[in-house]
Amino acid sequence: MKETIEVLIPAEDIAKRVKEIAEEISGDFQGEPITCVCILKGGVIFMTDIARSLNQTVLLDFMDVSSYGNSTESSGNIEITKDLDDPIEGKNVLIVEDIVDSGRTLHFLRNYLTEKNPKQIKICTLLDKPERRVVDVKCDYVGFDIPNEFVVGYGLDYAQKYRNLPYIGILRFE
Ligand code: IMP
Ligand code: MG
Repeated sequence: MKETIEVLIPAEDIAKRVKEIAEEISGDFQGEPITCVCILKGGVIFMTDIARSLNQTVLLDFMDVSSYGNSTESSGNIEITKDLDDPIEGKNVLIVEDIVDSGRTLHFLRNYLTEKNPKQIKICTLLDKPERRVVDVKCDYVGFDIPNEFVVGYGLDYAQKYRNLPYIGILRFE
């Protein structure tokens, strides 16, 4: 089967939205230092763009999780495969994720990180598929709500491919 990609969100629209969100985040954190916790690997491109648009001191840390299930849907069983390098106690934490689908991953991560007693945790996701939500999770910053389609690009993959596309596209099999 041939894989084709239809542009859903062009690179210019992403860049404009990143600036808007970063301005909102800077204001909300009132110039205080922020620890960005990037969820690998999908969040990495978005995180680097957000981080470079923030005015205050920014620290970067990374987590990776795996969930047992098929390749296009996460299950409830989430395992941490890479944990934070540094303590976040008393810190302002911004979780940066590529997409919220069922909500299971972010629900798990918010609970996990809350136990480490940060000063506050906010969640920033580039994309949200509200139709697919199974577990309620409050996202503080959302780049774009998108329809129930499988998307790739700007960090998001299919079988580890397409993360480097500068835009978000809908993946189709023909
Ligand atoms: P959740 O736990 O169901 O919210 O799953 C979120 C994770 O599923 C994301 O971090 C992505 O890795 C993956 N995911 C969900 N939808 C898509 C998609 O449309 N394209 C690529 N990855 C996706
Ligand atoms: Mg992900």
